[in-house]
Amino acid sequence: MNIPIARTSLTETEINSVLEPLKSGWLVQGKKVGEFEEKWSIFTQAEHSIAVTSCTSALHLSLAALGFGPGDEAIVPAFTWISTANVVEHLGGKVVFCDINLDTFNIDTEQIESKITEKTKAILPVHLFGLSADMDPIVKLAEKYNLLIVEDAACGFGSKYNGNHVGTFGGTGCFSFHPRKAITTGEGGMITTNDGSLAVKIRRLRDHGAEKTDLQRHLGARPYLLADHPDAGYNQRMTDLQAALGSAQMERANDIVNERKMLAKTYDDCLDGLDWLRTPYKDSVFTHGYQSYPCMFMPDEINLENIEEINIKRNDWMDDLQKMGISTRPATHAVHMLSFYRNKYQLDPKDFPNAYVADQCSISLPLFHGMTTEEQDAVIEQVKEHNN
Ligand SMILES: Cc1ncc(COP(=O)(O)O)c(C=O)c1O
Repeated sequence: MNIPIARTSLTETEINSVLEPLKSGWLVQGKKVGEFEEKWSIFTQAEHSIAVTSCTSALHLSLAALGFGPGDEAIVPAFTWISTANVVEHLGGKVVFCDINLDTFNIDTEQIESKITEKTKAILPVHLFGLSADMDPIVKLAEKYNLLIVEDAACGFGSKYNGNHVGTFGGTGCFSFHPRKAITTGEGGMITTNDGSLAVKIRRLRDHGAEKTDLQRHLGARPYLLADHPDAGYNQRMTDLQAALGSAQMERANDIVNERKMLAKTYDDCLDGLDWLRTPYKDSVFTHGYQSYPCMFMPDEINLENIEEINIKRNDWMDDLQKMGISTRPATHAVHMLSFYRNKYQLDPKDFPNAYVADQCSISLPLFHGMTTEEQDAVIEQVKEHNN
């Protein structure tokens, strides 16, 4: 048995889609990128979609375009992938961590206001594992204190809040196409925004600050004349090979999301009764996209005294599952515990106790579209057989 935590599942048509740009000879930020962006806007209902090289570059470009810079503070959940915080550092800002709500793994909206200072410029809510952050209170706080919202929707494909797709609440939404995500282009990212002038700025910054893209220039009357560069931009352009792959997958976007929901429901139905494993949060306001299936391993009620003991048990259980060919992962990491942030900001794990608990006691079970019934049954059987 070999059941990975995630497995890329591409159809023959999707694989062959890459040949089209290869044969056309136009390889970077051409028609295929435009097509992928259009399909993304239709799916998310965002007014503008801008394809880039990764979610990390999407977060970075968003903050840069919104004018975030040296000395500014950004509020970031303490439990997320490290890049949510890294982009703040890259721009010379200060990361201000906020603890999470342990039920949802997302930023605890009740703690945000206490983190706001005169220097706070942005909040970066993360829709972790496909569950939307609680956006209403975040939007209210941003309005009250005139703060930018950049949504980290890396895992947010198919995730909704009150019926609206994530990535449409803030200044921008930032998605990832890393292979562990529902739609993959190998590496890749997408920025969504409803702000037209911001979209223009981001498009420019993505492409060395150029006023016109190469494609626009080549389609124009005098393609031999180079564009002006009003900004000192970056190179965060997506290739047409990646976009062709993404665009082809968008043809079955709903099937992909529905399949993930069905797999999650099967897990829920079979595992909800276990009193030592907490399955992902469910609530009618939130439509979970199930980028992954994050659970809490809690053979006892977890507190700061017994957390190390429970962490050892969780790791032993992960070892046992791995020996049987079933891959699991901690849901993600607590960024304040990673050496760069721990050292730079002199942080202790207990400063953000829920993020600490989530780091030490969470476990994601394998979930990916294309997972067979036999594979899922095997995981369920092994989980149920586990003896604490
Ligand atoms: C919450 C979160 N933010 C950002 C990223 C970074 O995405 P990318 O690898 O596309 O840069 C990830 C990737 O896993 C993520 O999970």
